[in-house]
Amino acid sequence: MTRLMASNDQQSRRDLLKGAVSSIVIFGAASNYRPALAAPRDRQIENLISRMTIQEKAGQLSIFSDSTRIPTGPINPNATPTTTDDIKNQIRSGKITALFSARGAAGAREYQRISLEETRMKIPMVFAADIIHGCITQFPIPLGEAASFDTDLAMRTAAAAAFESTATAIHWTFAPMVDVARDQRWGRVAEGAGEDTYLGEQMAKARVKGFQGDNLKSETTVLACAKHFAAYGAVQGGMDYNTADIPETTLRQVHLPPFKAAFDAGALSTMSSFNDIAGVPSTGNHHLLTDILRGEWAFKGLVVSDYTSEAEMINHGFAKDGRDATKKSIMAGCDMSMQSGLYWDHLPDLVAKGEVLMRVVDEAVRRVLGVKKALGLFENPYRSMSVEREVQDMRKPENIALAREAARKSVVLIKNEGDILPLKKSGQKIALIGPLGDDKTQTLGCWAIFPDFDNAVTLAQGLGSQIVDRANLKVVKGCEVNAAIEGGIASAMAAAQAADVVILAVGETQDMSGEAQSRVEITIPKAQQDLADAIAATGKPIVVVLTHGRALELQGAIKNAQAIMAAWFLGSESGNGLADLIFGDFSPSARLPVSFPLRSGQQPLYYNHRRTGRPQTTTNGTEYRTRYREAAFEALYSFGHGLTYSKIEYGPTQISGPQMPMNGQIAVTATIKNSGIRQAREVVQFYVHDKVASITQPVRLLKDFKLVDLAAGETKTIEFILTKQDLAFVRANLRHEAEAGEFDVWIAPSSVGGVAAKVVLTA
Ligand code: NOJ
Repeated sequence: MTRLMASNDQQSRRDLLKGAVSSIVIFGAASNYRPALAAPRDRQIENLISRMTIQEKAGQLSIFSDSTRIPTGPINPNATPTTTDDIKNQIRSGKITALFSARGAAGAREYQRISLEETRMKIPMVFAADIIHGCITQFPIPLGEAASFDTDLAMRTAAAAAFESTATAIHWTFAPMVDVARDQRWGRVAEGAGEDTYLGEQMAKARVKGFQGDNLKSETTVLACAKHFAAYGAVQGGMDYNTADIPETTLRQVHLPPFKAAFDAGALSTMSSFNDIAGVPSTGNHHLLTDILRGEWAFKGLVVSDYTSEAEMINHGFAKDGRDATKKSIMAGCDMSMQSGLYWDHLPDLVAKGEVLMRVVDEAVRRVLGVKKALGLFENPYRSMSVEREVQDMRKPENIALAREAARKSVVLIKNEGDILPLKKSGQKIALIGPLGDDKTQTLGCWAIFPDFDNAVTLAQGLGSQIVDRANLKVVKGCEVNAAIEGGIASAMAAAQAADVVILAVGETQDMSGEAQSRVEITIPKAQQDLADAIAATGKPIVVVLTHGRALELQGAIKNAQAIMAAWFLGSESGNGLADLIFGDFSPSARLPVSFPLRSGQQPLYYNHRRTGRPQTTTNGTEYRTRYREAAFEALYSFGHGLTYSKIEYGPTQISGPQMPMNGQIAVTATIKNSGIRQAREVVQFYVHDKVASITQPVRLLKDFKLVDLAAGETKTIEFILTKQDLAFVRANLRHEAEAGEFDVWIAPSSVGGVAAKVVLTA
C-alpha cells in the first residue's frame, strides 16, 4: 500500500506513542514493532493474563471450526479436530477456546463445562458462526436486502437473526460483510450491500445495531464482525482471493468508510481479509490493522484472521513459513488466528526467543478476553445455551412475517412494460416456467449454513396459495439450471400457449455466488436462455423473475421480456413475498444496489466512476471515445434504478441559494408527484458531483436517500441539507476535505435520473 502522509490525528497519536516505541528499541527485540493504543485494563483480565502460560495465551488467540459440522473452508485434519472427542480433548489442552460453525445448546454446554471445570484457567469459550442473512429463518441475501434501501428493515432482520442464533448457542456472528463490490464477477457481491459506499455505510451501521442491540451481554444479541478488512471487494478481475491494487486514496474513500461506520456503531470485531493490497496481505498489514484501525480509529475490539489467511501469507510470498507468518500477523495487529493453528504452534517459541514480545501477545489476549467479557461470558458463561429456547425460539411467527416483509421489500421491479404487473388472482391463466420456480433448495442464498429447506416457500407455492383458482396456475420446469431436459421446452411451450401470461423463473443457483464463486460471464446459463427464447416465440407476455447473487447480463428474450423482477435469493419466505408483489397486494419499492451491465465484459462497472478524457456522451459519436466495440459506456440498468406500480414524477432539483460558504449549508429540494393510481414508496436519492478537483471525482456520488410514501395523486417536497461534508473527498494528503468550486447536485429516482442544480462552494 502506498504510504502517503499521515493525517493530523494519526500524527498526534504517534507522538503520544513515541515513548513506548523507544522503550522497545532500548530492549532491542522486535524493533519494527509499532504499538497501537493500548487496550483498556480490567482487573479480572489482568489477573488472568498474569497467571497464564504462553501456551494458554496462544490458545486464547486461536479459533477453530467445528469440522464435525459444516466446513466453510478447506479442512486440514492435521491442524484441526475432526471428531467431538478431538474437540473435547483440545479444549482440555487449552488449544480450543473458541469454536465456529458449531450449533446446538446441549453440545455447547458440554464444551463450556469442560472449559470451565477441566482447564487450568477456567476461561469461558466463545461460539461463533457465519450468520449472514438469518440462522434458521432466512432473510434475503444482504445484497437483496440492501436493495430495499431500508435500514430499519436491515436492523430488524439482523436482530431476528441474533435472536435465533442465541437460541442455538452462538455468541458471535462473522457478519456483516461490508465490502464494497464494484465487479459483479466477484461471487461475494451477494454478501454485501453492493457497489456504493454510502449505502454500504448505512447498511453496515444498521446490521451492527441489529446484531448487537443495546446490550451485548443480553441472551439474545450477538457480537458483530465487520469483514473483510480490507478492500476484499476490490480484488482484480472480480476473482476471489486475488490481489487488490488500489491507491490509499481509493482505499480510504471507497472501501474503508463502511468499516468505520460499523465500528462507530459498536462492532467489536473485524476479520482481516484474504487479499493483499499492493503486495501486503491484510493479515500482515500493520498499516491497516494497527495504524489505521487502532491508531486513527481507536478500535477497541479484536481482529480475527479470515480462515487460515495468516498461513496463506506463505502462498502470497509474504512469509517464508508458518513461524514467520505467525510473527508477521501478530506483529501487524491480528489478534486471533482462525483455523490454521499457527499461533498455537509458533507463538510460544517466538516469545521464548524474543522475536515477539510477551507484551504484544498480552495485548492481543487482553482484546480477546475483553470481548469475551463484553459478551458477559465471565459472569454468565452459559449465556445463550438454553435447550428450551432452542426449541421455542426458532421460526417464531413474527420472524416468519418479517422474512416475508423483507422478501417483498427487496425485489426490484426493473421493467414493467404496459403495466403487465400486477397480475390478477382470478380470471388470468398463469404458466410458471423455469427451473427456479419450484425448487426449495434455491431460495435461501449462499450463506444459509443451517439450511431449513423444508420450510422454504417457493414461488410456485407462494402463487399457489394466493391464486383464487389453483387450476389457473400451471407449473413447468422446462429445463434444469444448467442443462436441458428432454421434452422440457416442448412442454413449457405448451403451457405458455395455454396461458394468458408466463412467469419465467430463471437465473443462478445458490452456489453460483458466494465465496470462491467468481464468474467470467455473468449471464443466465444457456439451457435457461434457450428455454426463454423458445417461450418468447409463443408471443405470450412474459414476466421474468430472476434468482441471482449478483447483477447479471441479460440477453434475448429475458432482456426483452415485458416485465423483469430482480429477486436475488429472498430467503425462507421467498415465494410468499414475491406473490405479494406479483398479485399487487404490495407495490415494489426496492432499487438496484448494483448496476446491471449491457455486457459481462464491461466489468467492473459502477455508477460512481470517474470521467475519462474522452468520455462518450450520447451525442458525440463513437470514434475515439471511451467505449467497447460491442457495447457503449453505460449500464443497462444503473444503480438506484427501480420502479413501483405507480408513476412518480420528479420536478427539477432546486437550491435555497446558488452559493454556499465552506462552513455553511443550503437546502436542496425537489417536488415529487405520484401521478399514478396506486400508493407507492419511492426511494428518493441525493447525488453530488464535484466538477473540478485536485483528484478527479466520480460523475455522481450518492450522499443520502429517503424512503417516501406517496398516496395516488399526492405531491411532496423533499429536502436534503447540503454541507461541505457531502462535497468532501479524500485528497492526496489523505484528509477528507472539500475544495471550493462548482458542483452539480441532484434529487433523483436513480443514479442516472433527475435534473441537476448547480452549487458553488466558496472558500
Ligand atoms: C472464509 C470467509 O471468507 C469468511 O467470510 C467466513 O467468515 C470464514 N470463512 C469462516 O467461515
